Parts: sequence; C-alpha cells; structure tokens
Amino acid sequence: MKIAIIGTGRLGSTLGKIWAKKGHTIMFGSQDPQKAIKLANSIGSNATGGTYEEASKHSEVIILAVPYSGAKESIKKAGDLEGKIIVDSTTTAAPHLGGPSIEPAPSAAEKVAKWAVGAKVIKTVHTIGVESLNKTQFGSQQASLFVCGDDLDAKSKVKQLGLDLGFEVIDVGPLINARLIEPLGMLWIELAYKQGMGTDIAFKLLRRRKAK
Ligand SMILES: NC(=O)c1ccc[n+]([C@@H]2O[C@H](COP(=O)([O-])OP(=O)(O)OC[C@H]3O[C@@H](n4cnc5c(N)ncnc54)[C@H](OP(=O)(O)O)[C@@H]3O)[C@@H](O)[C@H]2O)c1
Repeated sequence: MKIAIIGTGRLGSTLGKIWAKKGHTIMFGSQDPQKAIKLANSIGSNATGGTYEEASKHSEVIILAVPYSGAKESIKKAGDLEGKIIVDSTTTAAPHLGGPSIEPAPSAAEKVAKWAVGAKVIKTVHTIGVESLNKTQFGSQQASLFVCGDDLDAKSKVKQLGLDLGFEVIDVGPLINARLIEPLGMLWIELAYKQGMGTDIAFKLLRRRKAK
C-alpha cells in the first residue's frame, strides 16, 4: 500500500519503519520536509519524504500522527483529501488531565472526519504505546487493536495494516463508535504513566469462542 505518514514524531517514524519493512511504500510528511527526507533516507528505498501535502497526494492511506491539538491545522496543510483513507491515531487527554471536554461525543475521529472533507476516516492505534508496535505478543497473548470506521473497504485496508503490525484486530463497527474506544486511549495513558504500570502494557479482548 502507498502510505503517507503525517508527522515524523515517535508514532509516525515507528509506524513508517515497520510498514516499510513489510513492503509498503511510505512517504513521510513533515512541517520541515528536510526532516522527513532524512528519516526516509535512514529507512531505505521504499521510503521518501516531503511536505504534508506531497505525502498525502502520493498515497492512498494517510496516517495522522500528530497531536489532536494540531490535527485540524495538519489536515488543512495536507490539501485535497477527497477519497483518501485517513487513520486518526490521536489520543485525547481525559478532562481531569487537561482534556477538552467531559462529553464523550463527538469523538476526535468524528471531528477529523468533519475537517477532512471527502476522506474516509478510520480510528485506530490510539490504544497502544509506540513501544509495543511490532512487539504485540505478551506471553501467550496477542494484544488487541481496536478499529472503527464507516467505509468497509477503507476499514479492511487499515485492518490489514494492523495485522501487519502483529495485532489481533477487533472491528468495533462504525466511526461513531470512536466515542467508545477513544476513552481506552486515555485509560492506557492513565495506567502507564499515572498509575505507574509503565508503557509495556496493552489491551486484550478475551473471548470464549473463536473469532468469526
Ligand atoms: N507515542 C505513542 O506511544 C502514541 C501511541 C498511540 C497514539 N499516539 C498519538 O499519535 C500522535 C503523535 O504522537 P507522537 O508520540 O508521535 O508525538 P510526537 O513525537 O510529539 O510527534 C508529533 C509530530 O506531529 C507533528 N505536529 C504537527 N502539528 C503539531 C503541533 N501542533 N504540535 C506538535 N507536533 C505537531 C510534528 O511532526 P513534523 O514536525 O514532522 O510535522 C511532530 O513531530 C498523537 O496524537 C498521539 O496521541 C501516540
């Protein structure tokens, strides 16, 4: 798949490196294109770098790997997103940790869908720490990755990217259900940092019967 990574911070650079190794074509987008080019050069032949707009234009799937506070502006910089698949990976902070609202609705993902006119938005990745990407096995248990979105074809492509990272992928239904899974990201942050469990933790959906 041709994947744009918008934002070359911890999440963006880690995802890009893993997916490039899996054979995907990565274009990093940065506010500082030289940073994106340097990162791409450190990865190899199937990675390039440029601006947010250049990366988005050349890709089918766009990973929004920027803080939620910078999401609206980053989407604007990405240009025309008609028909593109956008993965919203943002974790919003809980209200008592300085988050924006005590209302679970609308979710960050729904706001991203409003800003990214014509794009197919999928919510995922926000419930796991960057340290566990590609290290998804916890003893005998495989960590779960929760994914939701309205466009089934777009969601199936993003689910494949989740499988490429080594997760058990859980389809949580339509994008409105981001209201249910976004708080899990806040819970992860609370447990990892405030409750002192550290970042080597992940969520797992337990089932008695085998998945359909
Ligand atoms: N780190 C994790 O473990 C993790 C896990 C799951 C989800 N997430 C989510 O992924 C997103 C990125 O997290 P991260 O850890 O990669 O953060 P980070 O290391 O701080 O990188 C964020 C990147 O976003 C870009 N950016 C665009 N607008 C920005 C703004 N207004 N302020 C700051 N940076 C801005 C910058 O890249 P350029 O300079 O290249 O444009 C920056 O390097 C966040 O929404 C976070 O909640 C993170």
